[in-house]
Amino acid sequence: MKQQILAACAAFALTLLSGAASAATVVDDASLGKLDQGGNWLGYGRNYTEQRYSPLEQINAKNVSKLGVAWTLDLPNDRSLTATPLVVDGVMYFNGSYNVVHAVDVRTHKEIWTYDPKTIEHAGDRATIMWDWNRGIAFWKGHVFIATVDGRLISVDAKTGQPAWSVETIDPKNPLFISGAPRVFRDKVIIGNGGTEWGPARGYVTAYDTATGKMAWRFYTVPGNPADGFEDETQAMAAKTWTGEWWKHGGGGTVWHGITYDPEFNRVYIGTGNGSPWNQKMRSPGGGDNLFLCSVVALDADTGKYVWHYQTTPGEAWDYNSNMDIVLTDLKIDGKPVKALLHAPKNGFFYVIDRSTGKLLSAEKFGKVDWAEYIDIKTGRPVERKGARYEDGEELVWPGPFGVHNWPAMSFNPDTGLAYIPSIEMAGMFSDKYTKPKAWESPSFKFDPGVDFLREDGPADWGAAFLRAWDPITQKLRWEVKLPGVWNAGTLTTRGNLVMEGRADGVLVAYAADTGKSLWEMPLGLGISAPPITYEVDGKQYIAQLVGWGGSMTATGGSLSAQHGWAYGAQPRRLVVFELDGKAKLPPMPPKAFAKPLAAPEFTVYAELAKRGSHVWSQSCGMCHGPAGTAGGYAPDLRASPVLLDEKALHAIVFDGALKERGMPQFKNISKDDLEAVRHFIRREARKQNLTPQG
Ligand code: HEC
Repeated sequence: MKQQILAACAAFALTLLSGAASAATVVDDASLGKLDQGGNWLGYGRNYTEQRYSPLEQINAKNVSKLGVAWTLDLPNDRSLTATPLVVDGVMYFNGSYNVVHAVDVRTHKEIWTYDPKTIEHAGDRATIMWDWNRGIAFWKGHVFIATVDGRLISVDAKTGQPAWSVETIDPKNPLFISGAPRVFRDKVIIGNGGTEWGPARGYVTAYDTATGKMAWRFYTVPGNPADGFEDETQAMAAKTWTGEWWKHGGGGTVWHGITYDPEFNRVYIGTGNGSPWNQKMRSPGGGDNLFLCSVVALDADTGKYVWHYQTTPGEAWDYNSNMDIVLTDLKIDGKPVKALLHAPKNGFFYVIDRSTGKLLSAEKFGKVDWAEYIDIKTGRPVERKGARYEDGEELVWPGPFGVHNWPAMSFNPDTGLAYIPSIEMAGMFSDKYTKPKAWESPSFKFDPGVDFLREDGPADWGAAFLRAWDPITQKLRWEVKLPGVWNAGTLTTRGNLVMEGRADGVLVAYAADTGKSLWEMPLGLGISAPPITYEVDGKQYIAQLVGWGGSMTATGGSLSAQHGWAYGAQPRRLVVFELDGKAKLPPMPPKAFAKPLAAPEFTVYAELAKRGSHVWSQSCGMCHGPAGTAGGYAPDLRASPVLLDEKALHAIVFDGALKERGMPQFKNISKDDLEAVRHFIRREARKQNLTPQG
């Protein structure tokens, strides 16, 4: 005891002598659980609560109008930037494209090291199903933890950038990948994965020892083949909610985003994914709830054993996964203190759950939703609308597969009591008229969710977006702001009564957290997909923002994304840091760029081939190059590419992998005839577009 007091006195004296940030921070349970330190940003959601709320208030609603650029760092080798940077004692760590990690000294603005895990090389043939972005890294006791898109978990020494250990978290035979951030707690690091659309996928999360990489435990979110025996009684219980031979299709339930550690109960809450395939008629033909799809599941943090679950979308059929943020806070509801869990998944209901028991306290629609009328609070179950399950083969349903809220981060401000949710308003046409449920088979490394998706490009105004401030106690909208396009970034909120969010049109905005009044904005020259963070160094508060268009909508959104003018390769990627009265200049911003499809009148299009090409396209190319050839900026727009007019050059790229290192995968599972069909399809689409030029 005496020693502890002495140590504390010494630490205090040191702090007095050399400024608040001098004592080295040990990132562990104590620091991740400490809510009132604002200098560092230690985890994906800042600390264990995942609130993205900072107690810093030097920059506040009264003076934010004076915010200016402090410094910038160009990132010439990066493309999609979706990550939340971490800041530990004056060093910023973040991962760029293909999991290349940057460590940057925030005082000198220079890179200390970068670490490249060579994900494309390591993925080999599996590169055909992977995008380049990742949402974050974790930090624990002097090491940075990276979950790579090709499925590895790597521990890197935070001082040197040298790898300490690396483990495979995915069987390379499975069409899974990782885009999410690992989380750390009690000397363990946990990671899931994503990818239910390219073949049979059975979801799971795995916890590893932070020091050695040794596996501590694994929890499967859906049961396997009963003939192989279940792992435990939880899996046997879940199996009762499935019908048919679901294991042949994997079932789904991948844990690709929301994971929250709760130190008060020593539990991990995981948000689970949609079905594999989405269409329940194929996955579990006799119906059933299909546990644990689309759920929040509470696990014992030491053992990975099941504690409770709440399922948001029983028997899901629309890609309504529950992978979105899981935010912890204490609320007072009807005069009673509640240990609450806040969750706003794709399905459009805002859930308040008592996290001590898993009991649903309230659920209301926070956007346009018509798959269900309401949630019956007694049973905790949705009351579905007739027809929503496209029983007759086709139905327009709100929301579509992008959801009312996707992974762009929600934040929660305990001062205003409001959650800030980047929301989407967009319906989806769900149809299995052409996929024929009875004859359907799981794909193998080809995109096929069991409903028609990615076949057609819609109009640019097909969807809308809002930033919504939601009161979880009254379950009512407090304010909302209409946003451009549909794919806007995650949020940050602070004690300075601020909410900040970057937009699809490249503008970063600060709002008053209580009223939603816009207080400051600045165009940054490229669509923003990453959430801003804030930190303090040498007594001064800064805001940091990664600028780099990324995320599934930039790859598969078609005109919804192409409308902004962020054509592939046209604008530079960078980190921009702000301070009050900042006077630094942003480097030049190239103008918006729109693809100009080539008419190529000399090319004769055969209608039958174009039709076949459409099918090949949606299974193998559209997930990066966009629906019907309209690219949203993740990859080049092939309607405008001369390569499609040159058979030899096309073969060199697609079959021989000439651009492999740049993220254009080599395809071994496509025939020459199929690729020829793609050429006819692209020419057909290019000519359609030539009649009504874009931009
Ligand atoms: C996993 C994402 C991904 C998939 C899937 C994909 N591509 Fe690409 N493709 C890219 C990227 C990224 C580039 C740009 C590479 C570069 O910077 O040179 C590219 C470039 C190309 C180019 C060169 C275009 C030009 O003008 O330079 C062609 C042609 C191409 N892809 C064809 C295809 C075809 C055909 C398919 C389907 C069989 C396909 N791609 C599937 C990501 C993808």
